[in-house]
Amino acid sequence: MTSDLFSRGESAATFILSQSALRPQIGLVLGSGLGSFADDLADAVRTPYSHIPGFPRSTAIGHAGQLVIGKSGEIPVAVMQGRSHLYEGYSAAEVAFPTRVLGRVGIRALVLTNAAGGIDVQYGQGALVVLRDHINLQGQNPLSGANDERFGPRFPDMTYTYDRRYREIAIEEAKKLSIPPREGVYAALPGPSYETPAEIRYLRAIGADLVGMSTVPEAIAARHMGINVLAISCVTNMAAGILDRTLNHDEVLEVGRRVMGQFIKLLKAILPRIAKELGPTN
Ligand code: HPA
Repeated sequence: MTSDLFSRGESAATFILSQSALRPQIGLVLGSGLGSFADDLADAVRTPYSHIPGFPRSTAIGHAGQLVIGKSGEIPVAVMQGRSHLYEGYSAAEVAFPTRVLGRVGIRALVLTNAAGGIDVQYGQGALVVLRDHINLQGQNPLSGANDERFGPRFPDMTYTYDRRYREIAIEEAKKLSIPPREGVYAALPGPSYETPAEIRYLRAIGADLVGMSTVPEAIAARHMGINVLAISCVTNMAAGILDRTLNHDEVLEVGRRVMGQFIKLLKAILPRIAKELGPTN
């Protein structure tokens, strides 16, 4: 992307802020089959991505493609119901553009969710896993090209990408809900083909517990802007070759829907605690 990324982010943010009186400090991105959290927000204003200047459109099945600003309980949130991916033909910078915009809208914490393949055999289908770290194997970085210091530094630190305190909160709340508390390392690949069994053996060898096709561009852009990140994967399937069977997207969506109730409860429990950590506005 060119050096006017900042002003394009600003225009989109101004547009979004004109749609609602709410001023969310927390953003969420809902992945494949995980969109229904946004369905029952109070005072919700829904804006299709196609109406927001510069937003990439999500073409993936299972992604509604709209920004919802509303309240989860008492907490104002900006929720992306669906995201774009590299496999749709977007660059990492384009995929991360909505994160930039949410940053300009004023969010200070970003909760990323995704569907992922489980490499760690302890997970099992339907497991919810808090990301401890990631491995970027997408062959792209959203920060490639000229750096705009108004977003952040040229070489941002990635040591604490997934906020330690938020991870603790997520694990605590999972336990309270009798969800097995799990943490793992997410390997991001470009897709859209699923991995081969040999690739999964390789990913396990390099330290990955989960594999997916998203999340990392947004996490990098958020950290670049100083936004705290929490990411939670839903293990919709065991990764290729772990079980002697094929993978398909319908199953990914189906399992997402099946654990949705639990997933929504977990998000609802986490959000007030993140809001508390952030403290009062200004
Ligand atoms: N691999 C990559 N991405 C995925 C998978 C997988 O097995 N499941 C859901 N998203």
